[in-house]
Amino acid sequence: MTIEQQHTQGWLQSVRWNSLEDHLDLLDQRRLPEDIVYLQLTTSEQVWDAIKQLAVRGAPAIGIAAAFGVYLGVRKFSGSREALLAEIIRQCDYLATSRPTAVNLFWALDRMKARAQALLGGTAEPVGVDAVKQALLDEARAIQAEDEETCRLIGEHALSLFEDGMGVLTHCNAGGLATARYGTATAPMYLAKEKGMSLKVFADETRPVLQGARLTAFELQQAGIDVTLICDNMAGAVMSKGWIQAVIVGTDRVAANGDVANKIGTYSVAVLAKAHGIPFYVACPMSTIDLNTPTGADIPIEERHEDEITQGFGKRTAPQGVKVYNPAFDVTPNEYVTAIITEKGIIRAPYAENLKKLFA
Ligand code: MRU
Repeated sequence: MTIEQQHTQGWLQSVRWNSLEDHLDLLDQRRLPEDIVYLQLTTSEQVWDAIKQLAVRGAPAIGIAAAFGVYLGVRKFSGSREALLAEIIRQCDYLATSRPTAVNLFWALDRMKARAQALLGGTAEPVGVDAVKQALLDEARAIQAEDEETCRLIGEHALSLFEDGMGVLTHCNAGGLATARYGTATAPMYLAKEKGMSLKVFADETRPVLQGARLTAFELQQAGIDVTLICDNMAGAVMSKGWIQAVIVGTDRVAANGDVANKIGTYSVAVLAKAHGIPFYVACPMSTIDLNTPTGADIPIEERHEDEITQGFGKRTAPQGVKVYNPAFDVTPNEYVTAIITEKGIIRAPYAENLKKLFA
């Protein structure tokens, strides 16, 4: 399907492999909602930069883009099989330095590495360098295709928790733009629409980079879903009016004990939800669950440049020289999480036990 065809059907693909021209088309999410511009990426350095600068963002989409980045990093390689394996590992290690919090990035790079190791690490029937490069491209495409299916399944499970006419609040963008398609937190919203159910979505604008306003409100509106934009500091007021029956957000990493890292401000929403007796759901693929990270305190939280707060979008809104603290994510302790919704089903407390069972 072409970009134009997708657009007329009400969705935009954030990452597209262009097989005719052998490059990556990446929707520049920094320019939304005003401009729909695809960057043409031909090197792994450009992919690293696009992840760092938030041209592509959202945990699954970062992983997908990085996987294609590995292929771009080695597609012009010529040399021995041993040197190719070393170069693939170097490219993966390099791309892993782009952002620290979303574990999907490391998950996707590990998967690319494993594919290369399986083909190059002393197989009985040696595979040629060109075939390995093709296998890397195929793997990146598979990661993307599987994510679309995964998000749809998440949506099916999540929708079983929702009823027609419910008010649902979300924070940041865990939407189609952050994944291969459908999103995680937004997947039940798209599926509800397909099934003729109506949900009333409230999107927090999500300071400081406004993923909620620029991206979630944009993509839901494009899809004809009932969405109302609010400032982050209005969530409590909207809940107290009785307009919200569920909160659903995405996540960048779920620790083994069920603590959840997501966009800064998520923790405040979770506390507000608990105070109002509103269920707080977290939707994510299994690839976002990191059993090697014991608790939320062990999740590395990215800190970003102060300009995002003092002069976001080019207008200075704070005094010169003021001290700034700008963490991109916060951790919601597991006791605030009503359920974690994955492609394999709905997981509830005790999370340490039930998350482990999920992978067993
Ligand atoms: O800084 P961002 O825009 O990459 O942060 C994105 C989020 O926090 C999302 O909620 C999360 O990655 C889940 S996306 C399905």
